[in-house]
Amino acid sequence: MPAFTATAPGKIILFGEHAVVYGEPAIAIPVQAVQARAIVTPHIKGQSGDIHIDAPDISLSAQLLDLDPDHPLRAAISQAAGEHPLEDLPACRITLSSSIPASAGLGSGAAISASLIRAFSAFLGQRLTDDQVSLRAFEIEKIHHGTPSGIDNTVVSHQKPLYYRKGEKFRFLEIPTPFSILIADSGRPGNTLNAVGQVRQGWMNDPEGYNQIFTSIGEISENALKQIEAGSPLELGSLMDQNHDLLVELGVSTSELDHLIQTAKNSGALGAKLSGGGLGGHIIALIEDQANQIAADLMDAGAVSTLVTTVGAPP
Ligand code: PMV
Repeated sequence: MPAFTATAPGKIILFGEHAVVYGEPAIAIPVQAVQARAIVTPHIKGQSGDIHIDAPDISLSAQLLDLDPDHPLRAAISQAAGEHPLEDLPACRITLSSSIPASAGLGSGAAISASLIRAFSAFLGQRLTDDQVSLRAFEIEKIHHGTPSGIDNTVVSHQKPLYYRKGEKFRFLEIPTPFSILIADSGRPGNTLNAVGQVRQGWMNDPEGYNQIFTSIGEISENALKQIEAGSPLELGSLMDQNHDLLVELGVSTSELDHLIQTAKNSGALGAKLSGGGLGGHIIALIEDQANQIAADLMDAGAVSTLVTTVGAPP
């Protein structure tokens, strides 16, 4: 019997993280250069419920039923299985791998969930739509950090740049003029759970002040959408800078991220910001040329890896 394989890309948030949790719009793009992959191999002679998961990247090798019910991998398989009790599922071996750095704001958790849900559903004979994968992966995002906006699962399941507002139908972006984004990993793990919790605490202490910041971030996302769709992506540089300043006000940047952002700009980037939950993770910079020089300067400034992605280029 053949194996069932599915992949899902990493993602970056170009504009609107954190504010998106509070109903403001955000823009995110998939990053195909990094991928999560799930392979489900039927174990014909195995007994029902004999499902073994190997995830060498996180040193996990376990029977599904031995995992805590709240474990994200077990929860993802439950999502794929729907009504079927896990004990009754056909035997198989699952291998998970990912080149998406974990805790870097690149959506690694959502991509692992989406690839696993897609591959396991196919193994059970059900080919899910992108929307179905996304909705199921959203349930796992709740385990990762309680109040997800849904943007991560949406972009990694649909694998296209999109404009997203919680509770509304998202829309794919029209990108008449492609543009390049350099992504640099600070090497310090981000912490989305803490960052989202910290912002919530700040919001509860000062709802008016925080709502004002969220509204300003939402306006930046709206403006960015217009510039992208008008074919003027170079205007995004100053919008990234403004968005980053507001993320600093929310308290989710760090001195390392600020240093990388300043380095990218000194070295010729048109604008830069942190991306994702923050408190570590990665920064993104809009670049026109000089990618190699900017990447080298970022590595000298402490980045552990860099990657350039072109948004709007044919796949
Ligand atoms: O750190 P990441 O890649 O999981 O991105 C989190 C984005 C937030 O806006 C901070 C949270 C969310 O659910 O949208």
